[in-house]
Amino acid sequence: MEKFPSDFVWGYATASYQIEGAANEGGRGPSIWDTFCKVPGNIRDGSNGDIATDSYHRYKEDVALLKSYGVRAYRFSLSWSRIIPLGGRQDPVNQEGVAFYRSLIEELLKNDITPYVTLYHWDLPQGLHDRYGGWLNKEEIVQDYVNYAKICFTAFGDLVQNWITHNEPWCVSCLGYQKGVFAPGHKSNTEPWIVAHNLILAHAFTVKLYRDDFKAVQKGQIGITLDFHWPIPYDETPENVEAVKRATDFKLGEFADPIYKGYYPARVKAVIGDRLPEFTAEELAVVKGSSDFFGFNTYTSQIIQDGGDDETNGYVKVGHTRADGTQLGTEAHCSWLQSYPPGFRSLLNYLWKTYEKPIYVTENGFAVKNENVLPLEGVVLDTDRIDYFDGYANAMLQAVVEDGVPVKGYFGWSLLDNFEWADGYETRFGVTYVDYKTQKRTPKQSSQFLKKVCVAHPVFV
Ligand code: NOJ
Repeated sequence: MEKFPSDFVWGYATASYQIEGAANEGGRGPSIWDTFCKVPGNIRDGSNGDIATDSYHRYKEDVALLKSYGVRAYRFSLSWSRIIPLGGRQDPVNQEGVAFYRSLIEELLKNDITPYVTLYHWDLPQGLHDRYGGWLNKEEIVQDYVNYAKICFTAFGDLVQNWITHNEPWCVSCLGYQKGVFAPGHKSNTEPWIVAHNLILAHAFTVKLYRDDFKAVQKGQIGITLDFHWPIPYDETPENVEAVKRATDFKLGEFADPIYKGYYPARVKAVIGDRLPEFTAEELAVVKGSSDFFGFNTYTSQIIQDGGDDETNGYVKVGHTRADGTQLGTEAHCSWLQSYPPGFRSLLNYLWKTYEKPIYVTENGFAVKNENVLPLEGVVLDTDRIDYFDGYANAMLQAVVEDGVPVKGYFGWSLLDNFEWADGYETRFGVTYVDYKTQKRTPKQSSQFLKKVCVAHPVFV
């Protein structure tokens, strides 16, 4: 009988700005997302994370949901500006923010749920952006990030053994500084490479700090979460096969290659030239090998074709239909997302073969079509999401059992419907429906489906 290993970690993931709300409470300072949301046109429904799912106040209810869903892990992020309202190493720490996260962590542990803590899920303190340009300023941001991490390791490290530095740095650098669709909304062809570089350095020096000063006592692990969707060539022509490699290098290799192998991908260097900063020898020694595991978020597969003008993607066009007319599986609410489980299995194999690190799938999930307008009776019967999780869990089981890929854990995105960045509240990824007027939580069928998967580890294949 084929099963997931008994120590396989099942959990759900969320992020501070997407769920906490209480934007002006508990001493929290503003982040670049608070500012970005205020600009008309930035968020599709004109909303923001001021209230979100009000999880700052309802965290006990959320932990009870996790418990009822049978998972033993929860991945959430800390809001930097709730811990250091102005963000910097000379700025005061907000003890109320620290106390909030300690209460959340204690509540999780009381319920036998292991915390997986992300330090940075995109909500940079506005104070640092205003003071010196935030992620654009290497000398300042690396020191401030390491200082913030040190405060977190000191404040929570007796209770937390699983740390993730950044979530999806490609989204920070590309969507925030090249396309301008995420905070801080810049459109530049030089900034994304500087930001990416500084994100890598901040990550690496934080990992060094943890390994030097905390790991021996706290006995934890630390790594990074990247994002990548399995790329499939539009057809087998040499330009499209090469385009797949370029897309891989630009989106994944840009971060994974320095961190796991110690260099930027040659294809990225060739295109970006001297706009791509270089690591000093001392920096490189810290960057190379700076992740204990391979954390990644994945949602879909993509058909890749040479061309287009999108530099941060490596000049490829992305679609869901191949040249011969074959299409990738079920479409979701978001235009970029389609359910295609075989791509997930291929991706898991690729990551293991290429980077040789144990893998955590730190996010995976599906936004069912029209959940924002369906009546509640319809929303809770989320069969498309169940099909998605069924397919992806199967594909992962095959990768683990048949292909021998060491996947250690899987986190569904998301515990709750929540603030989906530039999509606002229109796109719902939760296994729990949230009525945003009353904040009432209602479990969807998918939560019960995944409960069966993680409690019983049943056989699908
Ligand atoms: C990845 C991001 O980490 C998360 O914040 C977002 O909500 C999901 N993708 C869905 O788009």
